[in-house]
Amino acid sequence: MMDLFDQADDAERAAELRDLLNRHAHAYYVLDAPQVSDAEYDRLFQELDALERANPALRTPDSPTQRVGGRILAQFQPVRHAVPMLSIRTETDISEGGAIAFDARVRKELELDETDPPVEYLAELKFDGLAINLRYEHGVLVRAATRGDGEVGEDVTQNIRTIGQIPLRLAGLAPAVLEVRGEAYMRRDDFEKLNAAQVQLGEKTFVNPRNAAAGSVRQLDPAIARRRPLSFFAYALGEVQGWDLPARQSELLQAFSRMGLPLSQEYTVAHGAAELAAFHRRIGELRNQLPFDIDGVVYKVDRLDWQRQLGWVSREPRWAVAHKYAPQEEITRLVDIEIQVGRTGALTPVARLEPVFVGGATVTNASLHNEDMIAHKGVRIGDRVVVRRAGDVIPEVVTAVVDLRDGSERDFVMPTVCPVCGSHVVREAGEAVARCTGGLACRAQRVQALIHFAGRRMMDIDGLGDRYIESLVEFGYVSSPADLYRLRLDDLLEMKRRADERDGVTPETVLQGKIATKWAENLIDAIADSKRPPLARLIFALGIRHVGESTAKTLADWLGALERIRQVPREIFAALPDIGEVVAESLYDFFAEPNNERVLDELLLAGVAPEGEHAPSAQLPRLLTPVALLGHLGIPRLTPLRAQQLIEQGLDLSGLAALPGDEIQARGLPAEVGTSLADWLEKEGNRERLKQLHVSAQALIAAAPQGAVGYAPLAGKTFVLTGTLPTLSRDAATARIESAGGKVTGSVSKKTDYVVAGEEAGSKLAKALQLGVPVLDEAGLTALLEASAAEMDNR
Ligand code: IVH
Repeated sequence: MMDLFDQADDAERAAELRDLLNRHAHAYYVLDAPQVSDAEYDRLFQELDALERANPALRTPDSPTQRVGGRILAQFQPVRHAVPMLSIRTETDISEGGAIAFDARVRKELELDETDPPVEYLAELKFDGLAINLRYEHGVLVRAATRGDGEVGEDVTQNIRTIGQIPLRLAGLAPAVLEVRGEAYMRRDDFEKLNAAQVQLGEKTFVNPRNAAAGSVRQLDPAIARRRPLSFFAYALGEVQGWDLPARQSELLQAFSRMGLPLSQEYTVAHGAAELAAFHRRIGELRNQLPFDIDGVVYKVDRLDWQRQLGWVSREPRWAVAHKYAPQEEITRLVDIEIQVGRTGALTPVARLEPVFVGGATVTNASLHNEDMIAHKGVRIGDRVVVRRAGDVIPEVVTAVVDLRDGSERDFVMPTVCPVCGSHVVREAGEAVARCTGGLACRAQRVQALIHFAGRRMMDIDGLGDRYIESLVEFGYVSSPADLYRLRLDDLLEMKRRADERDGVTPETVLQGKIATKWAENLIDAIADSKRPPLARLIFALGIRHVGESTAKTLADWLGALERIRQVPREIFAALPDIGEVVAESLYDFFAEPNNERVLDELLLAGVAPEGEHAPSAQLPRLLTPVALLGHLGIPRLTPLRAQQLIEQGLDLSGLAALPGDEIQARGLPAEVGTSLADWLEKEGNRERLKQLHVSAQALIAAAPQGAVGYAPLAGKTFVLTGTLPTLSRDAATARIESAGGKVTGSVSKKTDYVVAGEEAGSKLAKALQLGVPVLDEAGLTALLEASAAEMDNR
């Protein structure tokens, strides 16, 4: 039997654990600055859970264990709001006139004249989620309810508790009653992830983050609700007992923050209409970069005594207004679905839309990705569809408006032969994409490959537009990139003449009895000028599947020369940073394919030569250790630990390749590992492969500058560059970071160590600030590099 002492100790420990865990949750979810590791959090959580299981009386409503679990409900219980949850008047004039009209109304109601100073307003975002009332009694969250009809909402406490950002106990104070109102919403990235997961599960996807948030809050099964990533922003009060109200709305927000409630940082106190309009404009520009959807901004008279004085009309406060932006979703007609054949032969269905203005641009077509996606979205040709363009994202057909069908709509069917070359179309098992099997015999693929090759970020052939490439291919002047470098002036002029004939046009110059040749001379020059690209661009230009700009750069930086890249076995590709097995395989296959070898040889023969080739990176030997390479061979059971043990016996890869099968068991590995390795070595070609790998790795190591090994003061640190730095180019900054052992990546996450921001830094900077990732300017970066160089010298 437990004695009273133990119980008192347990109660004390449980309270301590609750407090600790709640503070850690706040640091993690609200401040984005975790104070302990996930493992430590889990340990504390398990301890509390065990205490509560042993003694259920210790299980309080503010215990973090109560964020999980809960029963499946048949329906939500109605909750009558102590103070009705009303709505805000919407200003439909989306120009600055909206702000001016509101300010004028407020001044008039308050009987202010021109001699009075500007009214102060709290200007904040209008979040596009759903309003929730959080009721705290004596500091503890006791109930969460939706708005419902404003008078009666639904009890969604179980689901709201799962939102990590929402404190289960208010920090620092415990008034008898404090109701906090705010918006439950879903971030765009969480929404994308959720929808991707829904597709995986074969479940219905959500139309937009708001619907996803609403569906999640009103999810009767709390286990499902828990997996839905919701967030929350506090912005208003409901019932209050036993707490002295601050004097201003802006002070209320600060009080919320002190209580541990999450706030959006994008709020300001604006003086008068002009500052309101400036806020509306600024947020309008920022809107696309915010990590969540908004549909406007909200202005509230900052002084609460004035709010009371202004009061309400027909369930809307006179002291607040919502000032909107252009919508990010519209309905239009899906006129047709056409097929585009891409560089890799992928057949992409593209929606042709009746032009519609949405999210600040006119949209006329949108990719539908593949046939599964079309089936999933349930769209038919002729449908009215919802088109969405939120954030920087590419316009998207979200769903069909089934109610508007008139029976004339028809289903889309994926063609079985390529609409361009007539080769048959295959869709491999497990693949969503249908592909033309024509390869480079398919004109569309040739054209796309050449368009890619000549592009601005690739070989940058000025003046060689898509139309010329199409005609050059159609009339047979060009079929591979090397052909471009063999073009003569006459070829171009003849191509142009035939294209004009085909299109039934007679150019001005020809009418005048002349032929224009200047463009063709310029183009020949531009082609010649493209012969010395930086290595990374040339690799990117080759259009190797899965190899984008950043992979191309990784290859160029680490291996330094085209000839080396062409020779490298796949395990060495896979050992480079950010190159996974799929990319490594694709690279290897590309360079091993005789057709591609020929194209490359022809390019070199035509005088194409990458500029600035160099020795492999001095850091390369660090990556090409036998243990790392063994890890990429896919030998069953040979974990890094086992590989390490093996290598520590004085074997290198060539030694291993020569090791007789019966000696392996003597190398101290567990029997099943030894057997697995022996089996692998006996498989046809594997010993040879190992030997080759050894030779290639040794050759690269020998070619890398010696002595610099281990010079990596920034090893393990990741950087993201954004905007334009005053003196350093992007490449130069990257090179410096990398030569100190750091890594430059493309997107900001909690794991990013530094963001280096220059002029016109955009969403990456915003994200860094939001996540609390340290931000450096160029001077800061230079200082960091110098400090770490000094540290190296001192070692
Ligand atoms: S204040 C009396 N502030 O808009 C004012 N509402 O039409 C009560 N909303 O249901 C609301 N962002 O869901 C307020 N910053 C914000 C808001 C906001 C979004 C929503 C809320 C409410 C609706 C009111």
